Amino acid sequence: MKLCWQIDAPLEPAMLSLMQTAADQAARCEGIERLCAVSVRLCSDEQIRELNRDFRGIDRATDVLSFPLIRYPEGTTAGQADALVRGCYDDEADACMLGDLVISVEHLLAQAEEYGHSPAREAAYLLVHGLCHLFGYDHIEENDKRRMRAMEEKILSGIGQSRDEAAPVTDETLLVLAREAMERSYSPYSHFAVGAALLCEDGRVFQGCNVENASFGLTNCAERTAVFKAVSEGAREFTAIAIAAQGSAPWPCGACRQVLNEFAPGIRVLVTWDGKADEAPLQALLPHGFGPSELPDGKE
Ligand code: THU
Repeated sequence: MKLCWQIDAPLEPAMLSLMQTAADQAARCEGIERLCAVSVRLCSDEQIRELNRDFRGIDRATDVLSFPLIRYPEGTTAGQADALVRGCYDDEADACMLGDLVISVEHLLAQAEEYGHSPAREAAYLLVHGLCHLFGYDHIEENDKRRMRAMEEKILSGIGQSRDEAAPVTDETLLVLAREAMERSYSPYSHFAVGAALLCEDGRVFQGCNVENASFGLTNCAERTAVFKAVSEGAREFTAIAIAAQGSAPWPCGACRQVLNEFAPGIRVLVTWDGKADEAPLQALLPHGFGPSELPDGKE
C-alpha cells in the first residue's frame, strides 16, 4: 500500500514506518490484491478541527477523519469490490487511490497517554481505523461495528499491536443473544419458542427465531433463519451457533444440521435451556455428513 504523506505535524520516523507496516497488513487482511494508495495528512488539532467543521459540520478537533473515494454496495468492502477499486486507478500515484486520511498528531499523543500505551500503537490504531473506513467498514449499526472491530483486531494483532478491548464475542454473549432471539419466536402452534445466534468468522452475529405457519410444513427453524439471514448479508464463514429454548435441550433438527454443514462443517453448536447449557461440534451431531465436497465439482 502506498501511503502518500502530507506532514504538517511531525511524528518520529519509527512511527511512520509502523504505520506503513500496518497499511500493508491491512491490505493483506482485507484481501486487496491490487496496489492501492491512500493519502495521509498528519496535522494539528486546529487543522483537523477546520476540516471537521467544513466537511462534517462538527466544529471540534478529532483524532482521525476518513474521506473514502469509493461508495461500496451495502455490506460489501474493498476486498469484495475489485472492479470499484480498479476504477480508482490514479496516474500520479500509479496505484488505486482509496481516499484520504487526516490524523491529528496532538490527539494521537494525548490518547496514547490517556489509554496508557505507546504513541506508536495509537498511530497504528488510528491509521488502521481510518483505513477500515476507506475499505467500506463502519460502526453505526452493532453488527457493522463488530465486523469493523474484528477486522481492526485482525490487522493489529498481525503486527503485534492487538487491542485488548476488541474482545471477541464470548460463548456467554452468544448464549445471551440466542435467548434474546427466542423472545421474538413466532410459534403459536407448537408453543415451543427457539432462538439462535450465529457467530461469523468476521465477528458479526446473526440472530434467528423459529417462524411457524398455519400450513405447519412451512415452519422455519431458528437456526436456519439465522443462517439464511447471514448468507443473504454476505457472510458464509461461521464458527459457532448458540440455540436457546425452554423445557428441553434444543439440539438442532436434522434439516438444520444439514444446512449448517453446507457452510460450516467445523462449527461448534451450543445449546441452552432452563438455565443449563451444553455444547457439541457439528461433526458429532452429523457424522459422515453429506456436503459440497461430496459432489464432483466440490472435489476439484
Ligand atoms: N425448531 C427450531 O426452531 N429448531 C430446531 O432445530 C428444532 C425445532 C422449532 C420449529 C417449530 O417451530 C418448533 O420448534 C417445534 O418443532
